[in-house]
This record gives sequence, C-alpha cells and structure tokens, in this order.
Amino acid sequence: VIEVRAPGRVNLIGEHTDYNDGFVMPAAIGYYTHVRARRRDDRIVTVRSDRFPEPAAFQLDRLPRTRRGDWADYARGILIELAAGGIALRGADVLVTATLPLGAGLSSSASFEIALALAMLAAAEASMESTEIARLAQCAEHEHVGIRSGIMDQFAVLRSHAHHAMLLDTRTLEVELVPVPERAAIVVANTMVKHALAASEYNARRAECEAGVRILQQTLPRIRALRDVTLEMLEQHEADLPAVVYRRCRHVVTEDARAGEAANALRAGNLAALGSLLNASHESLKNDYEVSCPELDRMVEIARTIEGVYGARMTGGGFGGCTVNLVAADRAAAFARRLARAYRTQTGTMPEIYDGTPVDGAQVLHA
Ligand code: GLA
Repeated sequence: VIEVRAPGRVNLIGEHTDYNDGFVMPAAIGYYTHVRARRRDDRIVTVRSDRFPEPAAFQLDRLPRTRRGDWADYARGILIELAAGGIALRGADVLVTATLPLGAGLSSSASFEIALALAMLAAAEASMESTEIARLAQCAEHEHVGIRSGIMDQFAVLRSHAHHAMLLDTRTLEVELVPVPERAAIVVANTMVKHALAASEYNARRAECEAGVRILQQTLPRIRALRDVTLEMLEQHEADLPAVVYRRCRHVVTEDARAGEAANALRAGNLAALGSLLNASHESLKNDYEVSCPELDRMVEIARTIEGVYGARMTGGGFGGCTVNLVAADRAAAFARRLARAYRTQTGTMPEIYDGTPVDGAQVLHA
C-alpha cells in the first residue's frame, strides 16, 4: 500500500499576488490529506473519500474531459495532467481521508492534488521534480476545475519546512525559508462560512489585474505583470485606469511591497512590525480588493482587541474561510479561547481554531 500525506497551508501575507508574479509567504500547517493507494492489475483508478458519498472511477485509457462539478474533477485533472506529462499511470484503488478542513481557505484542494499526484507517481514508480508537480497540479485546476489559481498553494504544500515560513517569488519560483521564532504563535480561526461567489469572483479579480496590466503597458511597455509596477508608477497612471481596476492594482502593488517588508520583519524577529503588515494587508483586501466578507472582518476585529495579538487578517482567496493571527506564543491558548467565545457570542456560530505551527511539506510515508 502506498501512503502519502500532504498538509494544508496558511498564508501569512502576500494575498492575491501569486498570479501577478509577486511574493507570497505561506507555511504548511499540521492538518493533512491522507491518500492510501493499492495497485490494481487493470487500467482502472477508483477514488473514494471519507468526506464525499459519491466515489469516482476512471478508465486510464479513456479519461473523461467533461466536468462532474465536484471534488472528482481534481482527481481527473491530476490523472490527465500526469498522463500528459509522460507518466505511465497504473490502476489503483485510492482512499482519501483528511484532518484538514475542506473549503476553508487552507488549500484542501492543493493538498489533495499533491497527495494524489505523489501517490500515483509512486504507483507508477516514477519521479518528478517538485516544481513540475506543482505546475502540473496548478494546470489541473485551470483546465479541469476552471479556477485560474496561482502557484502558491501547490508550492506551500510541497516545499514547506517545519518552523519556517516560505517566502516564494512566484516569478522565479525561488524559495527562501525564513524561521518563525518560538515566541511567535500562528493561530488560524475558521469563520465557518464559505460564500458561493468564491470561484467566479476569484477569476474576475485575476481578469481585472490582467486588464490593468494591459492598460498600463500602453505607457509602460516594459512591464510584464503587476509585479513590475510600483505604487508611484500606479499613482501616476491613475487617470488611465477604471476606478475599480485601479483599486485592484493598488491592492496587489502594495501587498507585494508588504510581503517583502514582512520577510524583512520576520528575518529580524520583529513581530510587532510583522503584525502591523498583516493588519494593513487585511484593510487592503477588504477595501481595495473586496474579497473579505462581514464574518472575516468580524473575526479580525475581535482578534485585534485580544491581549497578545500582533496582527490579524483574512488568509487565502477570501469570501469566507479563515483568518491568520500572529500571537505571542505564551498568550496563544488564551487568545484562541477568547476569540472563539467572542465570535460565537457575536455571530451565533462556534468557530474552529487551528494550530498554525509550520510543519514539513508533503511526504510519501510508504511506497
Ligand atoms: C487561492 C489560490 C492561490 C492564491 C490565493 C490568494 O488560495 O489558489 O493561488 O491566489 O487564493 O492569495
């Protein structure tokens, strides 16, 4: 039996920058997707999940091109892309279980994609570079699920290291592991809401960024992505851009700068500075990028009133899901209790709180 586990991730900062060639700083967290695969002698792959009633079965020689509209599309996409990448896939019975909450903005999709890809590679006794696996999984999302996501999640799931945040340059795919000091705790809080808009709004934001780049390129021909634009450049060209596009670009440009500053703050162990950057990131995501929601705003507002917190913001794509909180380690347990209690009192919903201590990336436990 092949056994793989792949973690989820929390993004500390650098939100909605990864499809703009920018910087992100995620870390893997100790909540996992487990994949167990047993080889079969025929050309069939079955996939069952403990979270979804309907299993999926694929004939490897006739992988369907049509979407089922649920989790099975991720599996189908991974199989198609591995095959397209020249991997001689083998039949297998795959069982998926998870301790990672699904659809909470902690990359349950990327975690599943990577776990399945590693398991199918092991079944085929094939290997592939992690960058190639990450690209392939991203491609599976674009082509077979329909979300034009960036590369952050797959990279974080594959390449993270315990006790470090991963500063990733999404243009060069260069990784720097920045240690998270022991006196800092990362606390993740789930609003328990997921707004239906998430996928369509995600693609819409990406399209707005691309529209901004196209307009700016008319006077700034050297830019390739918002990564190449500074706030000064953007302000100079404000009049060229529709107001909404301008605000979207302003979020990306300032967020990219904040991600760089955050890496400096973390390298210097300056938790207060890092916390302020997290706070500023949230305001920008809320006002300029408009991907927050009342529940995320409420969770962040409450967090900022609690002793020991350095900063709090939404994390991931937005429209629900989780917040990430940077907290003094010796205050983390009390912080979590108070946050949960206040959020429940104010919203009627009991949030789930997760330990965001950075862990290692995906591993093949048994091949
Ligand atoms: C989702 C996507 C990522 C990234 C974030 C926002 O998690 O999968 O690629 O764009 O949203 O930062």
